[in-house]
Parts: sequence; C-alpha cells; structure tokens
Amino acid sequence: MVSIGLDVGTGFVKCVSDYGHVIFPSLFAYRDMGKWEESQGRIEAVGKEARDFSKYPDTVIIRPVSEGRPINQRGFEALVSEAINRVCRIGLQQNNLDNKYNSGISIIVGLPYDARKEKTRLRRIIENQIQLKKCGIVPQVAGTLIDMNKKDAIIMSIGQGTTEIVVFDNQDPIIGVSLPQATDFITQGLGEFSYLQASTFTKQNSEIRKNVAKLTDILSNKLFNIMSSLDEKDHYDVVVSGGGIMIPGMKRSLQRKLKMEIQVPKIPIMSNAIGLHKLAKIE
Ligand SMILES: Nc1ncnc2c1ncn2[C@@H]1O[C@H](COP(=O)(O)OP(=O)(O)OP(=O)(O)O)[C@@H](O)[C@H]1O
Ligand SMILES: [Mg+2]
Repeated sequence: MVSIGLDVGTGFVKCVSDYGHVIFPSLFAYRDMGKWEESQGRIEAVGKEARDFSKYPDTVIIRPVSEGRPINQRGFEALVSEAINRVCRIGLQQNNLDNKYNSGISIIVGLPYDARKEKTRLRRIIENQIQLKKCGIVPQVAGTLIDMNKKDAIIMSIGQGTTEIVVFDNQDPIIGVSLPQATDFITQGLGEFSYLQASTFTKQNSEIRKNVAKLTDILSNKLFNIMSSLDEKDHYDVVVSGGGIMIPGMKRSLQRKLKMEIQVPKIPIMSNAIGLHKLAKIE
C-alpha cells in the first residue's frame, strides 16, 4: 500500500508519499485556445502552470482554497489529483511503483481546526478523484506534532489564509482556534501573487517588516490568551510551523513578544504534510 500525507493549503499544496514530496501553488486555471494556436478547445492547468496562463487575456484563474477550506470543487479536485499524480510519478521514475501501488492508497488529509464540519464533504471530493483503501481526515497541525515527535505541545502553524493554534495533550487536541490572520495579511498589499516570488521576501522591504510586527502582535496575544486557560502551561513546548515562520524576521519578532524560545521544524512549510504521511503509514 502507498501512504500519502496531503495538506491542501490556501497558498500551496504540500504532499508527501513513500516516494518523495511535492509542493506547488494552490491555483487552478483554464483558457480557450486562440484562433491561431495549433489545437483548439479549452485547456486547464494547475499550480505554477496555472499562474503562467495569466499572460493570456481570457484566462480564468481560480484559488480553490480559502482560509484552508475548499471553495471551488472543480479546482479543489484538480489540486488533489495533481498532487497524487505527481507523487506517484516520482515512484514511476524510480521504477518503484510496484505492487505497493496496486494494493491501494492510504491517505491522511489535514483540515483547519475549526473546519470539522467539512470532513464528509472533503472525503467525498477526494474519493471522487482516486480509488482509496483508506482516507483519514485530521486537524492539519497534528502533522507538525508528529513530525516533531511530540505528544504534548502547543502548535502554531502560520499558513497563508489561516493561523492555527492548537494545544495537544497526549496527542489529543484539547483547545484550538483557526485565526484569519496569516501571511496574506503581510503580503496582500504587494500584489495578488507577490507571495510566489522569492524576491518579495529577500529584498529589504519595510512594508513586510511593519506587517510582520503587526501579525506577531495578534498571534502572541492569541497565544497568551490560550495559554492562560491552561492549568500547567509550562508543560507544553511551543512549536511554530507553516510557511509564515520562514518570512524574514518572523521568528525573532514572535520570540521577542512571547518572551520565550519557540521550536521550528526542519522544513516548516512541509511539516504538516510530513507528519500526516507518518500517520498514514502507521494507521
Ligand atoms: N522561502 C520562503 N521564504 C519566506 N516566506 C515563505 C517561503 N515559502 C513560503 N513562505 C510564506 O509562506 C506562505 C505559505 O505558507 P503555507 O504553505 O504554510 O500556507 P498554506 O498552507 O497554503 O495556507 P493555509 O494553511 O492558511 O491554508 C507563503 O504565502 C509565503 O508568505
Ligand atoms: Mg497550511
């Protein structure tokens, strides 16, 4: 059986399998071929290719995920099947797509903490796309907890559309919130697709610095608020994952406001998916 961990985020799809991992922008696009193009009809694209379609004036670009939840079914299905095809293609290239694949796929998918109601709908969308042996749906930050080999921790995951803060006790999520303030809050003033350009984060940018400071004010305040409801707050390590912690200055600013050390996974943006894959392997 092939095991897959899938994290379909607002900004990026992250998918980890036994063969390797993929990451691509959560974008879906279609356009009608022009009169002078060799073939005719409607064509679709996903990920970076969808972004590249925007040079054609009649392109429709869709962001199928908003605040961590599917909002466009056709686009979301395209992201899921693209992720699974890509990780399986890695297996093919390694000549590795053996009986393991034929005996089915076991997948664990992450959702925002507050999106439990979406579980059944999400399962239906995914089962529409692929034949599955097993499909588990869990709070996405459980992936970071497992990636970090922890049982008790406060996980904060700063994504593009939401920041999740969840307290785990003995691997049980006991308190949690999905906040609508995340990296979109930092980059939205710099252009719709600015987050896809590395230069946005490498250039010295006073707008980013100012917005990082605002976001860490919000996030530290919310974290203190959650910690104050815990009996033994020192019992929990604080781990911060998600692409947001990779934004220059974010870790430093957060630590300064929290007045404590935080732990960051080795590959913060992939951490949820890495842990979800581990979970798919053991379940
Ligand atoms: N190399 C990098 N340097 C700086 N920032 C980065 C880097 N890579 C990603 N980011 C930031 O992380 C964001 C994406 O993070 P992530 O993939 O965790 O969000 P998401 O899972 O798509 O969103 P959500 O969890 O809210 O649905 C990007 O929009 C960007 O702001
Ligand atoms: Mg995410």
